Amino acid sequence: MIVTGFARDQWYVAAYGHEVGRRQLGRTILGEPILLYRTEDGRAVAMADRCVHRRFPLSEAPSHLVGDQVVCGYHGFTYGPDGVCVAVPAQRRVPRTARLRSYPVVEQDSFVWVWIGDREPGDTTPPRAPWLTAPGYTTVCGMEPLNARYGLLVDNLLDLSHETYLHGGYIGTPEVAETPITTEVDEEAGVVHVSRHMDDAACPPFYAESTGIRGRITRWQDIEYHPPCLYLLHSRVAPVGSPPPAADGADRHAFHVEVVYAITPSTEGSTYDFWAVARDFALDDEGVSDFLRESNRAVVLQDVAALDTLEKVLAGEGEHYQELSVNIDTGGLAARRILARMAGESAARPRSAAP
Ligand code: FES
Ligand SMILES: [Fe+2]
Repeated sequence: MIVTGFARDQWYVAAYGHEVGRRQLGRTILGEPILLYRTEDGRAVAMADRCVHRRFPLSEAPSHLVGDQVVCGYHGFTYGPDGVCVAVPAQRRVPRTARLRSYPVVEQDSFVWVWIGDREPGDTTPPRAPWLTAPGYTTVCGMEPLNARYGLLVDNLLDLSHETYLHGGYIGTPEVAETPITTEVDEEAGVVHVSRHMDDAACPPFYAESTGIRGRITRWQDIEYHPPCLYLLHSRVAPVGSPPPAADGADRHAFHVEVVYAITPSTEGSTYDFWAVARDFALDDEGVSDFLRESNRAVVLQDVAALDTLEKVLAGEGEHYQELSVNIDTGGLAARRILARMAGESAARPRSAAP
């Protein structure tokens, strides 16, 4: 079954760094409304997006920032960046319980990660996607909201055989669906690896236009899924007959594209689909950036349309529908198993009565 429960006590991408600034941003993550903004010294902060007084959203006008504080647009309750209420109207004394839940934040690799859970993160840190800000790479990115449960996006990304059918004309060619995958699960690290190496494949427009390769290609797709939120697709493309990577990892005959997704559950039936494409070639070519941005967005929107349809179908069928899984599903099934374990673990833990 598709996983529907949420894995709490985990890091999730709430936004790109460039989305968080001196204007409030509201995002709902695992059903929790969260307010994000940047303090005057540039620090991203996250707290509950509901005023403790009458629950007006602090992300919505006329709520506004004054310096590092956020002022509720309904009656003026004012909060510091730690969520503690510092002023209420018509009285000096601020009730001791007047505080918003605040969320631990880590900003790295262009993402603003927030910790959603009841425990503290301790020394747990979000997984890395260093290419997105590393020298030697150029990145395009975006986010599309999905009206579907997050498990459907996990299934989708772990089985790329759908590229042939859903994304023909962009990234799909017959060889993707024809070539078997290998799946490995690193149980200790909790990472799912799925690989598909095509030795001699047609070059889809996504790669032909961006790299300039005109003939057939060797195409490698190596997926690393770090449940629950981060998905990495290491894509290697080279003209057929090019030498393989050297023992030290050097690989100057190939083009590399690091496709990164952050899968952030918003509500039970909606998901934020963050996508980024980092390349190690044509670094300063705006035309290539525009092409990859438009193409990848078109591909993501094809997934969004399919998954929104699927969500409606599944929601209408209740709990009792049947599925049939085959070899292409081994990565998705491994991911479901890990997510179910994570969600079960957090369901079994008592929730603290957070404000
Ligand atoms: S609802 Fe925010 S001050 Fe009243
Ligand atoms: Fe897709």
